[in-house]
Amino acid sequence: MRVLGIETSCDETGVAVYDDASGLLSHELYSQVKLHADYGGVVPELASRDHVRKLIPLIEKALADANTTPQQLDGVAFTQGPGLVGALLVGSSVGRSLAYAWDLPAVGVHHMEGHLLAPMLEENAPQFPFVALLVSGGHSMLVEVKGIGQYTVLGESIDDAAGEAFDKTAKLLGLDYPGGPLLAKLAEQGEAGHYQFPRPMTDRPGLDFSFSGLKTFAANTIRDCDNAPQTHANIAYAFQEAVVDTLLIKCRRALKQTRLKRLVIAGGVSANTMLRSKLAELMQSLNGEVFYPDLAFCTDNGAMIAYAGLQRLKAGHTCELTAQAKPRWPL
Ligand code: KG4
Ligand code: ZN
Repeated sequence: MRVLGIETSCDETGVAVYDDASGLLSHELYSQVKLHADYGGVVPELASRDHVRKLIPLIEKALADANTTPQQLDGVAFTQGPGLVGALLVGSSVGRSLAYAWDLPAVGVHHMEGHLLAPMLEENAPQFPFVALLVSGGHSMLVEVKGIGQYTVLGESIDDAAGEAFDKTAKLLGLDYPGGPLLAKLAEQGEAGHYQFPRPMTDRPGLDFSFSGLKTFAANTIRDCDNAPQTHANIAYAFQEAVVDTLLIKCRRALKQTRLKRLVIAGGVSANTMLRSKLAELMQSLNGEVFYPDLAFCTDNGAMIAYAGLQRLKAGHTCELTAQAKPRWPL
């Protein structure tokens, strides 16, 4: 089975062709980061317009690189939600139209299911069941995954997502958008022990997260600091350490609660080096295993949508030509 996958939920246009016998045949990604940088965040209208410009050429390129004609495809998968409605409408309209024109089934994929299954693109893919920590710019959640489509949300953020907290704190430190990776880089120059940030919601039971307080704590700390470059690096270090520690505490709890030994982390923040190494240490101490997507598939991409779409089609899921984009859609 061979599927074309289309991702346009936010500011990356991603297209890929995935084949269940041969694996990933091609993937194309166009990032709009430069387009939005001047505004300090994603401008939804600009994002939609840019997806319109880039999507068809990327589909042509992905098919050519995969040496695949539409006749060789078995379906078209597109991100149906959650995300920015205008951006989602581009991928869903194009995806459904191509499926109609090529006489193929279309399938709408949940963006977070795409992230969740991204580690399956790797050679060393995790076996079910596992606990997944999904940490992106829009979501932070812990999910018990028993199989394709068998997801139980164990906990999620009650306010800002982890990536959002990274981006907002980076902005307070005067870093460009998107600030998460830049803050992580600055933190490499930081020293431990200068600042102590809180570990929100770790002092009570449960698996929900809250990151907006960390951003406020960062704002107050930055306001009262001497603004020396080393001070900013120390603040970045302490902030990152607090986010990573909080995620670690909740992962340990989720693994204990579910009695599982496999942990998957995915979503943009799973690119964070400190998070990766601390989780690797944790899993080693628990005699368990941790799985990540390749760095290229941590952030938004078409490959994860092609993969998830193929699994959905195999399970008999398809969507109508009239399927709506779903800007809000629980997993
Ligand atoms: O999954 P993603 O590409 O988009 C959403 O679905 O939201 O995640 C993007 C988020 C941004 O908030 C970005 O700052 C964050 O992931 N991010 C990072 C790192 N790389 C990306 N945060 C911390 N450290 C990183 N290395
Ligand atoms: Zn995402």
